[in-house]
Amino acid sequence: MKFFVDTAEIDAIRELNELGMVDGVTTNPSLIMKSGRDIKEVTKEICDLVAGPVSAETVALDAEGMIAEGRELARIAENIAVKVPLTWDGLRACKVLSDEGRMVNVTLCFSANQALIAAKAGATFISPFIGRLDDINLDGMQLIADIREIYDNYGFETQILAASIRTVNHVTEAARIGADVMTAPPAVIKKLAEHPLTDKGLESFLKDWEKTGQKIL
Ligand code: E4P
Repeated sequence: MKFFVDTAEIDAIRELNELGMVDGVTTNPSLIMKSGRDIKEVTKEICDLVAGPVSAETVALDAEGMIAEGRELARIAENIAVKVPLTWDGLRACKVLSDEGRMVNVTLCFSANQALIAAKAGATFISPFIGRLDDINLDGMQLIADIREIYDNYGFETQILAASIRTVNHVTEAARIGADVMTAPPAVIKKLAEHPLTDKGLESFLKDWEKTGQKIL
């Protein structure tokens, strides 16, 4: 499973990247707002840091506007994936931009049918939002499973990018189902290493080690 980090915070990306945890980055207008940075400047910095796909989102509502913005964002670096919303205009923009050879991430996907038509429009990535479905008492993980089944039935190459991941259990479940990629905030990725029994075991080992009076170095 590829790990994308869902943030526009450079320091957080750098820290995880040094550990080999970052196969790509996703941003959106809210994350750019939170960073307080200029979209082109911060996206360029991210692209210089990370070799994999870096999603940068368009904000126009019409296809022509999205295509123009997508081309402009793609000028930032080779590894830009243009992010467009799952609307008819977004799908039209997806088709044009992917026909030009650009990576396209179709975002704000909340149904299997939306994922099906995004694949037909040539999406490189489809981003089903797990957490936001869970927020309204729907089963976000079932959506990942449905899309996996449909894409496998027909051999679609669009990669399933499990998004809006809020918990470590979301990561486990998405990996079990076979999502190609997951994108999560840095805090969730860091939590993947945590287990109370690891902490407890380490504490008791160190207590016993002290009793030996030995040193390794
Ligand atoms: C994905 O590309 C989105 O940026 C992100 O996962 C949305 O997550 P949220 O629902 O927690 O805002």
